Formats: sequence, structure tokens, C-alpha cells
Amino acid sequence: MAVSRRELIVAGLIGAAAAACSPASTAPTTSPTPSGEVVAFPQGFAWGVATSAYQIEGSVAAGGRTPSIWDTFAASGGIQDHSSGAVACDHYVRWKTDLDLMKELGVTSYRFSVAWPRIQPTRGAKPNAEGLAFYNQLVDGLLSRGIAPVATLYHWDLPQYFEDAGGWESRDSAGWFADYAAVVFDALGDRVSSWVTVNEAKIIVQGGYQGGFMAPGKRDQKASGQVLHHLNLAHGRAVQAFRASTAKGTIGPCLQLAPCYPADDSAAAKTATALADLTENRLYLDPLLTGAYPKDLDTLDADFAAGIKGAVQPEDAAVIASKVDFVGVNYYSPVVMGPGGAQTRYPQAANGWQQIYPQGLADVLTRVHHDYGQPVQVVLENGVPDAPGQDPLHDASRIDFLKQHLHAAAGAIEAGVRLTGFHTWSLMDNFEWFAGYTQRYGLVRIDFTTQERVQKDSARWYADVARTNAIPA
Ligand code: GCO
Repeated sequence: MAVSRRELIVAGLIGAAAAACSPASTAPTTSPTPSGEVVAFPQGFAWGVATSAYQIEGSVAAGGRTPSIWDTFAASGGIQDHSSGAVACDHYVRWKTDLDLMKELGVTSYRFSVAWPRIQPTRGAKPNAEGLAFYNQLVDGLLSRGIAPVATLYHWDLPQYFEDAGGWESRDSAGWFADYAAVVFDALGDRVSSWVTVNEAKIIVQGGYQGGFMAPGKRDQKASGQVLHHLNLAHGRAVQAFRASTAKGTIGPCLQLAPCYPADDSAAAKTATALADLTENRLYLDPLLTGAYPKDLDTLDADFAAGIKGAVQPEDAAVIASKVDFVGVNYYSPVVMGPGGAQTRYPQAANGWQQIYPQGLADVLTRVHHDYGQPVQVVLENGVPDAPGQDPLHDASRIDFLKQHLHAAAGAIEAGVRLTGFHTWSLMDNFEWFAGYTQRYGLVRIDFTTQERVQKDSARWYADVARTNAIPA
């Protein structure tokens, strides 16, 4: 059974009373077809690939690392194929091979994440030199290959000891995160090009605390509201720590954004769309980029709203809205809301939760541009799992997916969006959270028995894009 992230996410949120909305136009049926011409990108545009620590590194007990909430969640049977990230792509051992692969692809940017439990494996102790050394060599290895390091500070692997001390439900978490971030800025700040604070606070809130299908596996609306606020606060505190450090480079959040469209012209569909837009986008964009939570919090589940409101303290708004240098956008899927709930309008990917709708990427980028002060934006993730029944190395469907999304990105740039880079998810097949190894998003295929890496057709296609700085015809 394909677990539908979307279904799980939307369940329980839609029934709440909703305020009047200013809906987007009714969902169009298709994306515009690319013209068949070569489309060039601005000079210096960053072509990247993305990964995260727990999904690729393995070696979970090596180098002094201690368990994170994902080790615990996997051990408790939370993963579809009963797997875990214990070995994953063995990247902790094979990192040089992986950097060589990236060089071969000609990518100019690599988004990876730093594993918090490698840097601070025990509470209150000195930072772990072995953990820092791993990322030091990784960053140096990237630079020597001409690839810009883009480091995410938090991609979901909270040290288990912090979870035991209250986790993200505790207001202290923002301080824990800022302290950890300061250690990493200090160690790598002279060489990392861009810093990403928190990866997809929304998915942590929805998957980890509402649906319970991601670590730490809770179903508690009130807690989810507290966590939402504390993740926003942690982001702000990390930005402040960055400004107070001597680190160079830029910093910004990573938001998973979903354009929301009403399925029809009915008032009920429009109301449901406004609520979906609040939960999918505005709960994160507004505090970070305008300094205030949206005014329609009362349209949310009452416990969720109470959790958010109860966590907010007067001084937080300014911290959360600390000036960022870019907005990182992850785009996978739109949300289409009918009177009776979410609908599937577009072709569905194998993961069961992603509708393929390239124009949605242009829509989110232009929306952020117009509604949030024209910030610099970077696509930090966009990708799709292997299509079932297709030869995994001849992944024409992924090439088509990327091509159409890049056309959408080019269109947004044409319309004035300040987009400076694109990272596809992912460099290689990896541990796909609750779906384990059942979904493969890589440009590079991994044989998880032998750890052999083989480029898929999409890897060569993407290499061509990076080399020519253009989408081929
Ligand atoms: C997320 C994460 C990635 C995923 C990717 C595919 O969005 O869940 O940032 O870690 O692997 O998005 O689902």
C-alpha cells in the first residue's frame, strides 16, 4: 500500500471552520507544454543536487555518533519495508566516490545536511571532533572539485537525548539548535557558501506530530502547534547566531511549498483552499518573511491553533523574521481542494502523495516573489521517484519531469523572479523516510546490496543541463 503523505497530512485539518478567503483561480487541467527550444539560464545559475545525512550516510554508530529520533522511529517499526538508515548509501565511508560522481555530473552546488548527533553526540559535552572532521573533509573535497557547499543544519535528525528532554515541544529547543548551529558555523563557516536552517518545518509538524508517520511519530494537534512555533523560532535563532559569527556566505530557510487551487468555483472549495494555503504555506512564510502569523489562525483545528498561540512570546516575532539572504523552496506537488476535501487532478507519482504539475513550481516562485517582498529564491529540492515498470536506468519519465519543471523555473525567471539555483532531489537513491528503500529519487542508481553506483539516463541529461547552463530542446 502506498502511504499517501498528502492524505495523512490533510486528514483532520479540513473540517475546521474557515474564514473568507481570496482563492487562487480554479485549478487548470494541464501545465503549458515546453516549446521545444533550447532555454538558457542566467549566467552563474547554480546547478545542484541535494541529499540529507540520515538518508545517505549510514555508519550510524561510527565516529562517535549517537541515535537520532529517526534511528528510534525506524527501530520502533515505523518504516514501510522495516528498514532504517543504518547503512543507507554508505556515504560516510564512500563520500569521495560520491564527490567524484558529482564532479563527473558537472554540478556546481551540493546541498547536504550536517548530522546533529555527529556534532553533539552527548548533551553538554564538547563538540565531537570526529564528527566535525567528517564535514570538514567533505567541504574541502567539494571545494577542490569546484562545487559550492550548501549545508543544511537540520534535516530531521534530532539527537534522541533532546527528544527525551522534550524535543521540539520544548521552547528550549530553539536555544539547543542555536548553540549547535554556532558550533557548525565556527567549524565550517569560512568555506560553506550557503546555510540552510531547518528543512521543511511543515513536514515535521504534519508528519511527525499530526499524522504520526514520521519521527517522532506523535499524533497530537496541540503539540504540533508548539513544534511549529519552536521550529520557526529555532530558524530565527540560528540566523541570529550566524550573524553573530564570523561565518561567510548566506543563510535562509528551506520551505516545502505547495500551491493550492480550488477544484471548482464553489464557495466550499474556495474556503477549503484558503485553509490548505494557510497550513501548507502561510504558517511558515508569514512569520519568517512578514514578522507575524496569519490572522486566520482560528480557521485551523482548535488544538493546533491553541498550540501555536500558547507557544508564542512577544519577543519571538522579531527573532523569527530575522533577515535572511534567500528563501529556499522545495516543490513537489500542488494541492487541489474540492468541497469534500483534497482531490487528485494531475498524474500521480509512485510515492502516492505527489501530483505532477510543473506549472505549480512557477506559481509558488512567483507567489513568493509578489507576496513576500521579491526575495532571492533557490530551489533546494525538486524531484520524483522512479516510475514503476520502467527500466530503472532508462528513466525517461524523470528526464521529462525535470525538463518540464525547469521550463517552469525559466518562466518564473522570465517573469522577474530572482531565482539563483536549482537542486534536484536527489543525487542518488536513498532512505526515503517512512517509505524506506521502496521509492528511488536518484539521478544515480544505488544497488543497496553491493553499494554500486550507476548513472541513470537522467544523470547524463542533467549533466548536459549543468554544462550548457540551458534546457536542451
Ligand atoms: C522531504 C525531504 C527529502 C525527501 C524528498 C522526497 O521533502 O521529505 O526534504 O528528504 O526525501 O522530499 O520525499
